[in-house]
Amino acid sequence: MKFFTIPVLLVASFYSAAIAQSLDVESIIDELEDDDVIPDVIPRNFLPITELNLSYVNRSMDFGTEYFPYINETDNFPQVNYTSNSTDYYTMAFVDPDAPSRANPFRAQVIHYLRINIRGSDLTTGSNGNLTYLAPRPFPGCGKKRFVFVLARQPSELPNLQLPATRPGFNIAQFVANNSMVMIGANYLTVESSPGSECVIPGSTPSSSSNSTATATATGSASSSSPTASISSSVSASRSSSSSSSTTSSALKNTPIFSSFLNTLFAVFVLSFLLKSF
Ligand SMILES: *[C@@H]1O[C@H](CO)[C@@H](O)[C@H](O)[C@H]1NC(C)=O
Ligand SMILES: *[C@@H]1O[C@H](CO)[C@@H](O)[C@H](O)[C@H]1NC(C)=O
Ligand SMILES: *[C@@H]1O[C@H](CO)[C@@H](O)[C@H](O)[C@H]1NC(C)=O
Ligand SMILES: *[C@@H]1O[C@H](CO)[C@@H](O)[C@H](O)[C@H]1NC(C)=O
Ligand SMILES: *[C@@H]1O[C@H](CO)[C@@H](O)[C@H](O)[C@H]1NC(C)=O
Ligand SMILES: *[C@@H]1O[C@H](CO)[C@@H](O)[C@H](O)[C@H]1NC(C)=O
Ligand SMILES: *[C@@H]1O[C@H](CO)[C@@H](O)[C@H](O)[C@H]1NC(C)=O
Ligand SMILES: *[C@@H]1O[C@H](CO)[C@@H](O)[C@H](O)[C@H]1NC(C)=O
Repeated sequence: MKFFTIPVLLVASFYSAAIAQSLDVESIIDELEDDDVIPDVIPRNFLPITELNLSYVNRSMDFGTEYFPYINETDNFPQVNYTSNSTDYYTMAFVDPDAPSRANPFRAQVIHYLRINIRGSDLTTGSNGNLTYLAPRPFPGCGKKRFVFVLARQPSELPNLQLPATRPGFNIAQFVANNSMVMIGANYLTVESSPGSECVIPGSTPSSSSNSTATATATGSASSSSPTASISSSVSASRSSSSSSSTTSSALKNTPIFSSFLNTLFAVFVLSFLLKSF
């Protein structure tokens, strides 16, 4: 081994650590397109800036992970991690685009959680009025459903922003656009409803459960609990220091083209060292 092999290896390990940390924008978008979360909930121009890592009952959510509400897996608000700037404000939403069913989503989107003016990654800050966490709990016979978490960056603190008055009939993309926010992270889960011959909203008469005329007064039988009580303190901003680097360079680093360019450059660099040393 030549004496400079060690520095080369050091550079190599630093370099691969840097690559491992960069956000895989393309795969996040692919995952969201797979089950039409893009474009059903998230617009096609979505550009993720951060992972939105969540976990229920210690099982991390990986774009469509199935959870089981009927054995209480989703009763409590999940653990959440994302990268943020500690002085910026964010909005986090959890919506049901398949309400009551994916085949007939006439109540969509139903808000299962909406918190605005979150400072950095601290979900105990900001406000959610009475839009507290409502656990996913599909009505019987409504099939497989998606539930989507969205993180948006606000232009600033928005003290006068009004929260919607009702849970059904919401649209997170509109809410984000209306208030000059930008979606920066997303993830989703799926749940299977229990068997049933028909997807009917309890409380509405079966004959009136036609597609657009059913009275959408039922707010769901799901249990609700205060998120602030159950949010784990592990909400972290561990990468916020790295996210304060210049916008263009971090945006560039996130593009796969730039990554492979760096990879090639690095390979050439290593090769030329090795060739010189033998
Ligand atoms: C969030 O980060 C903490 C600390 O690194 C970790 O213990 C926890 O498992 C993470 N949670 C999720 C949902 O990624
Ligand atoms: C999650 O994991 C932690 C540490 O392993 C454990 O103490 C806790 O009981 C687990 N929680 C659940 C809901 O499984
Ligand atoms: C779910 O929670 C309810 C109410 O706390 C409890 O009665 C029930 O036994 C739980 N079910 C399971 C499978 O843990
Ligand atoms: C999200 O989870 C992935 C995989 O565990 C990890 O590499 C990444 O650093 C996490 N991101 C955040 C913001 O916690
Ligand atoms: C942090 O701030 C920078 C500069 O304003 C911005 O480019 C970046 O998108 C922000 N990151 C997050 C996660 O909000
Ligand atoms: C929240 O409370 C207000 C005032 O009591 C009420 O008008 C509104 O319908 C409630 N919103 C939800 C989503 O329950
Ligand atoms: C967005 O603004 C439009 C036009 O003012 C309004 O009709 C719509 O209800 C708003 N949507 C949301 C979700 O705030
Ligand atoms: C409602 O819409 C679904 C799918 O669009 C359709 O299969 C069903 O027949 C409709 N039901 C009624 C009562 O119109």
